[in-house]
Amino acid sequence: MLLHVVADQPDRISTLRMLLGAKFSVSSSLLRKEHNVPKNCDAAIVSVDLRNADNIVALKELAAKFKGAKRKIFILDQKARLFAAQAYALGATHVLFNPVTARSLLAVLIDPSSIELTDDTGGQGARGAASAGAASLALMFAAVLHGQPIDVADAKSAACKISNCVAEEGLSEWLEVVRRHHEGTYQHCLLVTGTAVAFGLSLGLAEADIERLYSAAMFHDIGKAKIPLAVLDKPSRLEPGERALIETHPAAGHTILKRTRGISAEILHAVRHHHEYLDGSGYPDALCAESISDLVRILTIADIFAALIEFRQYRPAMPRAQAYEILGGMHGKLEAPLVKAFREVALNR
Ligand SMILES: [Fe+2]
Ligand SMILES: [Fe+2]
Repeated sequence: MLLHVVADQPDRISTLRMLLGAKFSVSSSLLRKEHNVPKNCDAAIVSVDLRNADNIVALKELAAKFKGAKRKIFILDQKARLFAAQAYALGATHVLFNPVTARSLLAVLIDPSSIELTDDTGGQGARGAASAGAASLALMFAAVLHGQPIDVADAKSAACKISNCVAEEGLSEWLEVVRRHHEGTYQHCLLVTGTAVAFGLSLGLAEADIERLYSAAMFHDIGKAKIPLAVLDKPSRLEPGERALIETHPAAGHTILKRTRGISAEILHAVRHHHEYLDGSGYPDALCAESISDLVRILTIADIFAALIEFRQYRPAMPRAQAYEILGGMHGKLEAPLVKAFREVALNR
């Protein structure tokens, strides 16, 4: 595998060469200097300070040279959504944060099934939709952080691409591609959107309902933009205070979207209530069955399933069958006929 490293400082290049040189053939160049990017380069690794506007301009100019690379891995210093959004907008397929280790880089670079998938057109379709979705989510989260308006049309159009992709290529393909190429909350939202669409299709929902469903899924966790990443992505058990903070996200999302044009009342309801359970044990409003819409009941099942099968650096992804078993055990909380109907989606679709 041929890798090309681009960095804005020589020591960043040496570090990456040290981490990767033993396993791969690595070429490198300094940003804004002559770039001899190999034509058949498999992965580009970019380690550049994105706070510097000149660096962003230089990376935009360089983008065409990396067009053929299957993976574009950006390594960032600041674990901030704004910079992750910037990286995705510059074409990143993966974003990692410093300090990176050989292990985290290898997890992204050496994945035999990934190579297989990216070589077929189906995989590229899912990858394109996943990248567009991740970029849209990143921009949406950055807008919330900066008190700027959310681009609702962009998010809906990205969700529509996901919907088409799942309808054409199936859920399994979508889940594999998203888990391999995306992390954290963006990964989760992409998984929920794809799962919700597959579920909606299997239930035979009308096109307008599928549209409501994928829009609600795309926006459902926007309130997490207000939760620090240190809590959101914490690899160990959450303290009660941290758990309480995370549980503020549905109401926070509702508050954010209430003032956003283009968000329907149904989507607002779904964003606020996707953690409610039929028996009243959910949050934030402890709603009971009669107050929970069908759209939310479907979304909640997709949300729980997606959360269970997520890929995290620190633990293996749970098999789909095991995740479905957990859903099946949530008696009284989820609508039993819906959980039954979800079986086929969870296991086979
Ligand atoms: Fe949530
Ligand atoms: Fe969620």
